[in-house]
Amino acid sequence: MSDFVTLFEMAPRDGLQNEKAMIATADKIKLVDLLSQAGLRKIETASFVSPKWVPQMADSADVMAGITRVDGVRYTALTPNMKGLEAAIDAKADEVAIFGSASEGFSQKNINCSIAESLERFASVVEAARKANIPVRGYVSCVTDCPYDGRTPPEQVARVAADLIELGCYEVSLGDTIGQGTSETVDAMLRAVTERVPAERLAGHFHDTAGRAIDNIRVSVGHGLRVFDAAVGGLGGCPYAPGAKGNVATEAVFDMLTAEGFETGLDRDAMMVAAEFARSLRGDTV
Ligand code: HMG
Ligand code: MG
Repeated sequence: MSDFVTLFEMAPRDGLQNEKAMIATADKIKLVDLLSQAGLRKIETASFVSPKWVPQMADSADVMAGITRVDGVRYTALTPNMKGLEAAIDAKADEVAIFGSASEGFSQKNINCSIAESLERFASVVEAARKANIPVRGYVSCVTDCPYDGRTPPEQVARVAADLIELGCYEVSLGDTIGQGTSETVDAMLRAVTERVPAERLAGHFHDTAGRAIDNIRVSVGHGLRVFDAAVGGLGGCPYAPGAKGNVATEAVFDMLTAEGFETGLDRDAMMVAAEFARSLRGDTV
């Protein structure tokens, strides 16, 4: 197994989407630029979703247009449907992501359709992205617990993850959307998922609501995962997942992985500058 771990930076998207007060576009651009300087090579910069659903992300095209692109960095965007994909292509996103759920309740609340309907919708997004030569990542939310349906059966996560790979996603990120996973439930979930999808094509996306994200990343590393989503300053939450405050902090993941002997390619001092700036943007969340 590789000793290199990729940290996929979430602060500009998952970190900010839940903020109630509108954050200035210039500040969002500054955050992305600071992250580029910290050595992060994948930065989720934008979200082309309905502005009625997530008003904070309404200036995504302006953010994408304003950033200083660094060679080798992928500036990525969420695209729930064809309208989102078209906007992402116009904004020159380097990569896009479709986002589904392992639980029906969250699928309905977050993207207003069933899991089956979402997969149908995603098929045309993946097909059009392929034609435009844009890699597509997939998310599965609520991989251990759902705020609406309770505990998520591991087989359901495995099924949706395998479906997203089948559609053409190069990687699937497994989201503990409300940060309720434990070492035991994450282990059981990963056992089921890795029977269907190899660990090399999986990423972990842990919210730190209950303070267990770092433990859950350790469990995931043990299953062979080498990509983790995180947000500097521990920013984050999802407007349609009550209690989903706080992605795991990039700096905390960096420190744990470095202590365990993994390489991440990140510059800690520069990352702390980005983290401090990110924290200064945080107000009351929704
Ligand atoms: P809908 O209302 O069913 O969609 O929403 P619709 O197709 O009927 O369209 C309704 C209106 O939205 C129309 O405008 C469309 O044009 C517009 P109107 O005619 O009423 O003026 N619209 C759009 N506008 C801009 N960009 C678009 C777009 N699509 C439609 N792409 C929809 C369905 C999927 C659009 C909506 O539910 C939505 O935007 N949901 C996004 C919710 C969201 O962003 N949640 C947070 C991200 S997921 C997350 O945080 C979890 C994750 O971090 C992993 C984890 O932690 O588990 C990834
Ligand atoms: Mg999230």
